[in-house]
Amino acid sequence: MEDYVGQTVLGQFRILEEIGRGGMGAVYKAEQPDMDRLVAVKILHPRLASRQDLVLRFRREARAMSRLTHPNTVRVLLFGQLENGALYIVMEYLDGENLLQVERKAGPLDPVRAARIMIQVCGALGEAHSLGIVHRDLKPENIVLSTQGGISDFPKVLDFGLAKMKDPPDPKTGSLRALTQQGAVFGTPEFMSPEQARGEVLDARSDIYSLCVILYEMVTCKLPFKAKSPMDFITQHIKAPPIPVHTRVSGLSLEEKHWKVMERALRKDKDERYQTTLEFADALMTWLNGSGVDLPLAVPAQTEAPAPAPAAEEPAARARPPVQDAPAAKASEIVPERADRLGRGVVIGLVVGLGVLFVAVVVLVLLLLGFMT
Ligand SMILES: Nc1ncnc2c1ncn2[C@@H]1O[C@H](COP(=O)(O)OP(=O)(O)OP(=O)(O)O)[C@@H](O)[C@H]1O
Ligand SMILES: [Mg+2]
Repeated sequence: MEDYVGQTVLGQFRILEEIGRGGMGAVYKAEQPDMDRLVAVKILHPRLASRQDLVLRFRREARAMSRLTHPNTVRVLLFGQLENGALYIVMEYLDGENLLQVERKAGPLDPVRAARIMIQVCGALGEAHSLGIVHRDLKPENIVLSTQGGISDFPKVLDFGLAKMKDPPDPKTGSLRALTQQGAVFGTPEFMSPEQARGEVLDARSDIYSLCVILYEMVTCKLPFKAKSPMDFITQHIKAPPIPVHTRVSGLSLEEKHWKVMERALRKDKDERYQTTLEFADALMTWLNGSGVDLPLAVPAQTEAPAPAPAAEEPAARARPPVQDAPAAKASEIVPERADRLGRGVVIGLVVGLGVLFVAVVVLVLLLLGFMT
């Protein structure tokens, strides 16, 4: 795919740098000098523009996305086709990190912090659902934590409806075709609802399931199933009961009531889940209130303490590698570099400590010798 860095597209957006790449294309940070603002430009792979059905689908989804005005939904400013035909969306630029990056850096999030974030995300989804828009591809990479008006941990949800533009997972690598009724499964296997994994028609309750998988991952840095491949995840979402959070990570203390909320959102039968994001958010709020949390929902950016994650003692055991590059590795239990860094830190600490001790002993001996002579 063409590299747009340094180019000015549509006569007004100067592309500054690439923010990241996904399955459909790349997202760039750009400036719009006339408006004196930064924007994000998502440019889809040119092959998607060569299919008329996908172009029409893209226009439909982007138009629907532009109607969303919830503060926790990314604002779409413009969409269409570039001079070279590639499909694009111009969005507000979000200065922050997506949830996967946050998890990788900080390890598992404090359950209270995670619930606060999720309650806000539920608001964004609530608006979309009320307009008949199902996200279909909720995953940590599609939620960016930004700071807005001095409030940190302000989530913004991205990519509503764009899953329909994606290629379904390769049926040659598994018996996917047998699993789907409509011939295509769209979305990300790790976060798919059972009905999505079966290729059925989706409604808001599918998004609620995916949101809860994200919540699960936020507090554990793991997924609710142990699987070795995307195909394995799809099967487990359909059949396997989710692993209770407290047995997934040893030493994690999560209130029974909190797990009950998550367990209900993860039910296989969508009729047994929370039926709306409002219900799900309400249940999380009730748990927060009942657990004696008296902190405000909004966290002022300037007073926020550097997140003391409860699992700070053993972060290496909980982080995981990226999904997009190596989907199968998502189930991996450890990020080796983190463990290495931790090990090196301990060794350096010991060496410095011994050095200081040695100098102190030498000084003491010299002092004693001074006294004696
Ligand atoms: N408006 C934005 N502001 C800042 N960062 C953004 C914005 N939109 C997307 N990003 C970031 O850009 C990166 C690439 O996003 P992209 O949607 O292309 O890939 P993805 O979400 O990883 O995969 P997929 O193609 O499956 O959606 C992600 O890290 C995402 O968080
Ligand atoms: Mg995305």
